[in-house]
Amino acid sequence: MKTRDEDFTPVDEQAEGGVSRRDFLKISSVVVATPMVVGPTVVKVAGEEVKVWGPGAVPVTLHVNGKDMKAQLEPRVTLLEAMRDQFDLTGAKKVCDRGECGACTVLMDGKTVYACSILAVDAQGHKIETVESLTVSGNLNPIQQAFVDHDAQQCGFCTPGFVVAAKALVDKYPNPTPEQITHELSGNFCRCGTYAGIRRAVVERNGA
Ligand code: FES
Ligand code: FES
Repeated sequence: MKTRDEDFTPVDEQAEGGVSRRDFLKISSVVVATPMVVGPTVVKVAGEEVKVWGPGAVPVTLHVNGKDMKAQLEPRVTLLEAMRDQFDLTGAKKVCDRGECGACTVLMDGKTVYACSILAVDAQGHKIETVESLTVSGNLNPIQQAFVDHDAQQCGFCTPGFVVAAKALVDKYPNPTPEQITHELSGNFCRCGTYAGIRRAVVERNGA
């Protein structure tokens, strides 16, 4: 599973835990018609067993914010779409929908990822944390409070992604240098240009 820090590999080249388009072409040469199936089937590609999901909806279980969430999803559904459309977790935003802006940032096994660029079927078995998990019993996480205190949002559309990325940043570097802040938040864009406020929120948050 790739995180935001790792090189992006085109979908054509990805095969981990599923089947790439290239593999699919190979499979097509031996399987004349792919039936509508429930759950993954396993086919042999060049002597190796490969899971094939769909093309119809399959049962998917995601572990989000400490809970198992289940739905019937087509394999093309992204983690972001599953969270927003099936599980009513709308904190992560769909903006570019192509892994460029960071508005959809969530944590997967503690690392920042773009939820728009991960298929829900591939997110199974991983620990997903969204911005919703940061508020406990109505109490804002210190990094959320810092965004409020330092006026670190204008339209607010980028803010949930920035908050998640900032939380990951301060967990990794409790006293980050300016260079570490720049690097760790470089995967998020703010079209309103509230970068100065966001930096102040990270540096001057309570408990820093
Ligand atoms: S919506 Fe996912 S990176 Fe922009
Ligand atoms: S506050 Fe508007 S895009 Fe960042």
